[in-house]
Amino acid sequence: MESGLIRGLHHITLCTSTAQGDVDFFVKVIGQRFIKRTLFYDGRIPIYHLYFSDADGTPGTVMTTFPMRRTGLTGRKGSGQFTAIAYSIPGGSIDFWREHFRRNGVAVAEESERFGEKYLRVVHAGIDFEVVEDRTDQRKPWKSEYVPEQFAVRGFHNWTATVRELEDMDSFMTGAWHLRQTMRDGRFTRYEADAGGAGRRIDVLHSPDLRQGTWTLAEGIVHHGAFDVPDYDAQARVKFDTEGMGFTDFSDRKNRGYFESVYVRTPGGVMFEATKSLGFKMDEEESMLGTELKISPQFGMSHDDLRKLMQVEDPIHV
Ligand SMILES: [Fe+2]
Repeated sequence: MESGLIRGLHHITLCTSTAQGDVDFFVKVIGQRFIKRTLFYDGRIPIYHLYFSDADGTPGTVMTTFPMRRTGLTGRKGSGQFTAIAYSIPGGSIDFWREHFRRNGVAVAEESERFGEKYLRVVHAGIDFEVVEDRTDQRKPWKSEYVPEQFAVRGFHNWTATVRELEDMDSFMTGAWHLRQTMRDGRFTRYEADAGGAGRRIDVLHSPDLRQGTWTLAEGIVHHGAFDVPDYDAQARVKFDTEGMGFTDFSDRKNRGYFESVYVRTPGGVMFEATKSLGFKMDEEESMLGTELKISPQFGMSHDDLRKLMQVEDPIHV
């Protein structure tokens, strides 16, 4: 294990239902900032790529979605995927969140405890989300008009990756991804980057009998999770070391507009990305972030026509 290569979580990318459903959930219920709206950078079909985060798009707070309903493709949840996304909330705020979900018509599916921490679980677009109290998380929240600052989410606490085989995943997490195994609780094993803590954690859930979930883009699944690397050298080192372990199906570096990414399928089946941030303010002023649809580079058609098409097919009203 070497510190400073993988610094923690960067963003997680979900295949959801509709754009409006995501704005309603991530902005009005979870209380994140709608920081960028663009389109998927791959493929011929224009699909929204929406970003929700803290004020600045800080790594470890960035939720990104592909609303898939209009494609008609539906996914199957299972192993080989991230299966839950936990947001960190301040200590003593879980009662607020239980009531906040109720007032917004979001049913609490489960209340549980793991690693000595209290979790509430809710479901949006078929995907599991959690809030978990963390008294040690000092990150600054987005000043949301929907959630009072003293209760606001601080960013991600952890993501759960579900796998059928634990041993191979463990050697990948520690050997290739330079994370430390720090705790176990039943079928959960916790891995942390650098100093650890909220935003630097993955919980691996061992589910040996769970069928493989969908890997393609399809509604109702998490597509991949991205980890923050400080620079291109660290990104290249992670790729080089991972290939050195025999995992040679590592992608080339891809420019995603606001960051540059390399992708690899882990032995547990879950797709990981190692991400070098470029920032979200390169094409919009601070006050205008997330207000205009930015067109990804593969689309040749008129940008105005594409913006009109998307607003008709998957309308967004903030
Ligand atoms: Fe990504």
